[in-house]
Amino acid sequence: MEKQVKIAVLVSGGGTNLGALIQAQKDGIIKNGKIELVISNKSDAYALTRARNAGIKTNIVIKKELGSQEAFEDRIMELLEEEKIDVIVLAGFMAILSERFTSKYPRRIINVHPSLIPSFCGKGFYGLVPHIEALKYGVKVTGATVHFVNEVPDGGEIIMQKAVEIKDTDTPEALQKRVMEEAEWIILPLSVEKVCKEISEKRG
Ligand code: GAR
Repeated sequence: MEKQVKIAVLVSGGGTNLGALIQAQKDGIIKNGKIELVISNKSDAYALTRARNAGIKTNIVIKKELGSQEAFEDRIMELLEEEKIDVIVLAGFMAILSERFTSKYPRRIINVHPSLIPSFCGKGFYGLVPHIEALKYGVKVTGATVHFVNEVPDGGEIIMQKAVEIKDTDTPEALQKRVMEEAEWIILPLSVEKVCKEISEKRG
């Protein structure tokens, strides 16, 4: 079996986390794995441009065009199989993956979430929402969490977390930016490398 762990990144938007992963690969922070494929569920996601600029294979899978959740997941699984992907990273992927999908890849799907789980997470908490809710609640510390994905939304085993202080002047947008810069872009690459290293070592 090949030693290099093959990574696919699933995206929907700007792809700054994908950018951090690409940079980490260049910098040698990610060395036990290689990003082989980027899949987007939005045809206009800027993340696709980032991937193409880095010479990474891309694919677009649109649920509406395929007609059902099952067909959507089947197509993604087919693409993952074609590239013999070992690790799937959800980096701002704003689509739901059912248990039928997640149960196929135990401890192989990694997600980055913009809060300190178990706060401000679960169904409906994506994008700006965790930051809006953190400010509304008045917490003084938030952050980001990288975790394995299972059938419970944001409920899988935690891999890494990093705290970020909230300032009195924060808006949801300003907080989102700082959580990305100070937490997500750091712990996502480190977590991906950790998981890839473990898989690689198991292979011997
Ligand atoms: C990131 O903040 C990520 O944590 C969040 O969406 C943003 C995507 O940004 N993900 C979720 O809310 C998932 N529940 P990006 O496209 O620039 O990486």
